[in-house]
This record gives sequence, C-alpha cells and structure tokens, in this order.
Amino acid sequence: MAALLSSLLIFSFFSFATSLTSNYYQKTCPAAETIIQKAVTDATKRDKTVPAGLLRMHFHDCFIRGCDGSVLLNSKGENTAEKDGPPNVSLHAFYVIDNAKIAVESVCPGVVSCADILAVAARDSVVVSGGPSWDVPQGRKDGRISKASDTKQLPAPTFNISELQQSFSQIGLSLKDLVALSGGHTLGFSHCSSFNNRIYNFNLTTDIDPSLDPSFAASLRHVCPAKNNAKNAGVTMDPSSTTFDNTYYKLILQHKVLFSSDNALLNSPKTRSLVSKFACSKDAFSKAFVKSMIKMSSITGGQEIRKDCRVVN
Ligand code: HEM
Ligand SMILES: *[C@@H]1O[C@H](CO)[C@@H](O)[C@H](O)[C@H]1NC(C)=O
Ligand SMILES: *[C@@H]1O[C@H](CO)[C@@H](O)[C@H](O)[C@H]1NC(C)=O
Ligand SMILES: *[C@@H]1O[C@H](CO)[C@@H](O)[C@H](O)[C@H]1NC(C)=O
Repeated sequence: MAALLSSLLIFSFFSFATSLTSNYYQKTCPAAETIIQKAVTDATKRDKTVPAGLLRMHFHDCFIRGCDGSVLLNSKGENTAEKDGPPNVSLHAFYVIDNAKIAVESVCPGVVSCADILAVAARDSVVVSGGPSWDVPQGRKDGRISKASDTKQLPAPTFNISELQQSFSQIGLSLKDLVALSGGHTLGFSHCSSFNNRIYNFNLTTDIDPSLDPSFAASLRHVCPAKNNAKNAGVTMDPSSTTFDNTYYKLILQHKVLFSSDNALLNSPKTRSLVSKFACSKDAFSKAFVKSMIKMSSITGGQEIRKDCRVVN
C-alpha cells in the first residue's frame, strides 16, 4: 500500500508533457533561443567550466520535481533550497541563467520560463563543446518548491547498477537512457569527495576498488591524498579533451572512470553492450544522447513563469 501510494505520488509530480513544442515561443518571444545561446557562448569564452556546470544543473533540475527550474531557486527563510543541499559542491554557473533571463525579459517580459532557459542552455552547452545539436521542446513552467531534502532523489556516485536502474526508472527513464545520459561525464570535473570511496577503505578486504585500473587509482590518490581532505581537490572526468565526445565510454572499458556508478555500467549485459557500442561509435552515442536528453528534459512539473529565476513570483 505504501509502495502504491508513493508511486502514485511520484507520477503526480512527474509527467511526460505532450504539450512541449520546439517552436513554443515563435510568436511570443522569437529571439529567446538566440539570446540564451549568446549568454552561454559569452560565458564559456571567459570560463571553460560553464558548459559542464549547465549540463549538470539541467540534469539535477529534471530529476527533482521534473524540469521546473527548482534547482535555480534560492534558500529563503526556514527553507533550504536544492542548490544548498548535499551535492551542491558540483553546482555552479547560476549567473549564466540569470544573465540569459534578464536579457530575455528585456525583450519579452513574463513569457519565457526559467526551466526552458535552462533546458536550452544545456543543449547550447553540448553544442559549444562540439557535441550534437537538437531542437529543444519548450513550454515548461517554473515550480514554486525547492527543498534540500529532495536531493536524496538524485542518483549517488556510489550506486550499483540496480540502484541506478531504479533511480532512473522512477522517473520513466530506461537503462538505455542511463547509459546514454551518463555520457555527459565526457565534460567537467569531479571533487575527490565524489570518488574517495573507491581509493580509500573500499571495503574490509581491499583498500582500492579492484575495478579501477591500478595506475589510474594511484594517480587519483596522488591528487586526493587523504580520505577526508579539507581541500577537496578534484580531477577532470575526461582528461583527454574538453570536447563533448564518446571518450567516456572508452574510459569505462579501460577502468579509468571516477565513480562506482560509471563503472557499474559494465555490470549488466544490456548496459555493458551499450557501453561497447557507444565506445565504438560516436555517431551511435550522439543519436542516443539526443534522444535521451529530449526524454529527460520533457519531464515537467511547474505552474508559473518566474520573473527572477532565483525566487518564486
Ligand atoms: C547516472 C547517474 C549520475 C551520477 C551518479 C552522477 C554523479 C556525478 C558526480 C558525483 C559528479 C561530480 C560532482 C563533484 O564532485 O563536483 C558529476 C558531475 C557531472 N555530471 Fe553526473 N551523474 C550522473 C548522471 C549525469 C547526467 C544524466 C548528466 C547529464 C546528462 C551528468 C552530467 C554531469 C556533468 C556535466 C558533470 C560535471 C559538472 C561540472 O564539472 O561542473 N551526470 N556527476
Ligand atoms: C552545501 O551543502 C552542505 C550540506 O548540506 C552545507 O553544509 C553547505 O553549507 C552547502 N554549501 C553551499 C555553498 O551552499
Ligand atoms: C546494490 O546495492 C543494494 C543496496 O546496497 C543491494 O541491496 C543490492 O544487492 C546491490 N545490487 C547489486 C547488483 O550489487
Ligand atoms: C571487497 O570488494 C571485492 C571486489 O568487489 C570483493 O571481491 C570482495 O568480496 C569485497 N569484500 C567484502 C568484505 O565485501
């Protein structure tokens, strides 16, 4: 009964909207996409870490209450918002969304949702990094709730394959979506705290996760010299390039990926064969990534068009 109730609750929060369309603002704000793209490319020129930040921000947004801009809201009064919850260490570049919103508001006030701006900015982040482009379905509304405690719904880097599958299926995403979207880890950076579990006190019998390449593990220990290092340094997830490509899958096959959750994609026949496929074919990866991004970013949830992305109306 409790399980039934909670699944009903989940499905009342998350729905795959059929009303999103890629020309949603054609009449009401035709310049919106160009303005957002400019905000992303301008910011990226000054700070190369921006695209990874925006892509991860959109993923966080969609996993909690649907893609409703809840990740953008600031804490207020007693309420601690998502962005101040535990995985906040990885969230940044909020100012890019603010800049895009201000520029969009100046030409068509009160029309374009923050959730849509973030979804378009995530696509532009992939494009500016040399990845595929696609039409972003739009027409999302912004939500009014953002709670730090909801970040429990995000998959953790320590998850095994069944926990990952469960986390994705709760919002209607498949194992193929899991493998394709994990390819987002071709961009960006991780703090030591996100993979320390694999290089210190892994379990009672081994200090280092045996599924890590030994020399790679040694290099990670060098960058992250202690389990609870206050400095919490970090490493680039795909050190070969800052380009959006399929190298991530090649690194999985070489046991040179950072998270247990990355390596876990080898631990079921279905996901393992997709990893091999995407490692061999950038084209197959790009097609699958686009399809899964559209699917993830079409989970909606909000009800208003916020004036300021950091506060509810
Ligand atoms: C499969 C489950 C996933 C897990 C467990 C996971 C976990 C993580 C963790 C722990 C970090 C590093 C945070 C830090 O230490 O700073 C990270 C970074 C990142 N993730 Fe994921 N992630 C997942 C899925 C995704 C998806 C679906 C996307 C987007 C399509 C994505 C995009 C990114 C990006 C771009 C970064 C780098 C952020 C930056 O450099 O600012 N991840 N992820
Ligand atoms: C991030 O979350 C942690 C744990 O909830 C909190 O102690 C910390 O103040 C937050 N940091 C920021 C920058 O919001
Ligand atoms: C995954 O982790 C969960 C929770 O720790 C555990 O119950 C389950 O047996 C694990 N599954 C696999 C396939 O290792
Ligand atoms: C530690 O991990 C290794 C590799 O996954 C495994 O073979 C071993 O049984 C684990 N030991 C314990 C005590 O869980």
